[in-house]
Amino acid sequence: MNTTPPSQPATGSAAPNGATLRRRLADGLSASGALRSAEWRAAVEAVPREVFVADWFDRDDTDRGTLWTPVTGDKAALDRVYSDVTLVTQLDGHVVPSDVADPVHGAPSSSSTLPGLVVGMLEDLSVRDGDEVLEIGTGSGYSTALLAQRLGDRRVTSVEIDPNTSARAATALRRAGYHPHLVVGDGLDGVPDRAPFTRVIATCSVRRVPAPWLDQADTGAVILTNLSGWLYAYGQVRLTVHGPGHATGAFLPGHVSFMQARRDAPPPIDSRSAMAGTGEGRPTSLGPDILADWTGRFVVQGALPTVQHLRTRVGDDSPYLDHLIATDGSYATLLPQPDGGWRVRQGGPRPMWDRAERAVAAWRAAGSPPTAAFRLRVTPESQSVHLPHTDLAWCLPE
Ligand SMILES: C[S@@+](CC[C@H](N)C(=O)[O-])C[C@H]1O[C@@H](n2cnc3c(N)ncnc32)[C@H](O)[C@@H]1O
Repeated sequence: MNTTPPSQPATGSAAPNGATLRRRLADGLSASGALRSAEWRAAVEAVPREVFVADWFDRDDTDRGTLWTPVTGDKAALDRVYSDVTLVTQLDGHVVPSDVADPVHGAPSSSSTLPGLVVGMLEDLSVRDGDEVLEIGTGSGYSTALLAQRLGDRRVTSVEIDPNTSARAATALRRAGYHPHLVVGDGLDGVPDRAPFTRVIATCSVRRVPAPWLDQADTGAVILTNLSGWLYAYGQVRLTVHGPGHATGAFLPGHVSFMQARRDAPPPIDSRSAMAGTGEGRPTSLGPDILADWTGRFVVQGALPTVQHLRTRVGDDSPYLDHLIATDGSYATLLPQPDGGWRVRQGGPRPMWDRAERAVAAWRAAGSPPTAAFRLRVTPESQSVHLPHTDLAWCLPE
């Protein structure tokens, strides 16, 4: 374990310094229940987040869409660094705050996850002294530093897919006095040279648990990851590995989402068949509002694993149409009715909405339980999510 806290930036004013803000952050995280152990408290109090997030983008939702304002230099205030928020550090896979002077459009591709979530996940990982940890998604390097502080450098391996992000994290880790094993590569492949691991933690989400993580984990190892799909429904799951390729576990309470692992990102939507669809369809009691419910969306995504959601309208005064479009060209278009009800127009090889209706009916018949009621079973042949004591189950996509 690293015992010497890294040097503190000078403050030169009455404003609280890093050490004070770290203690306050730890107090807040203890009060919220994210921080539950003395070991992780010591790590939070030791790791200077400002070294890992020297600048970031602030989000601004405007009439022109979401704009990202670079926050650099003196504007990157220390109290913001130590607030319990996610700080976006890269857009579109390459743009960092120092690249731009004015607000820009873009999609976040790297961030320093909010400390409450990072620490809560580290607690959920049940780390013990001597664990060998594989982290997927180094990002800013802040969570990597917490792990290195808790376990010592040589027990921590962290993979980052983006070389520039990894290089920035490496510099920050060195500055803060940590030297874990960093790898640039696709974390979905794990790091076979450093196996076996006793703990695997992902700070990006995956569509299924990558087989290499299971192959590179010891029996009894814990894997903590976020599962998502192309409807952007998320479930945080903790698995115990029972032997080569075999693991079981439960989804965890709460609403946690992560940016998707780059390899698992959806393909461009081919909306041609849905747009060419005609006809009034049939009545349905399941409207698109199911997608606004965290677990309802999770159930629909499970039933329709290759589907993406698209909203369109022809003019400012016309209603929105919700389309669910699968990679095989199957689609369901939900048509709002004057009485507030819905009709569904389906086309392509598979009547998709029928499937969604059956899955949602089974979930509702079970009392609409939260995501945390679901379980995941992984074997070398399949990965299935199921709701115990019901017939509701689905396989995660290959
Ligand atoms: C939410 S950020 C990581 C947060 C980080 N743990 C922290 O505390 O700053 C997710 C990171 O995962 C990386 N990533 C995405 N897909 C990946 C993959 N397949 N393998 C490794 N890293 C990946 C992204 O480039 C991004 O930096």
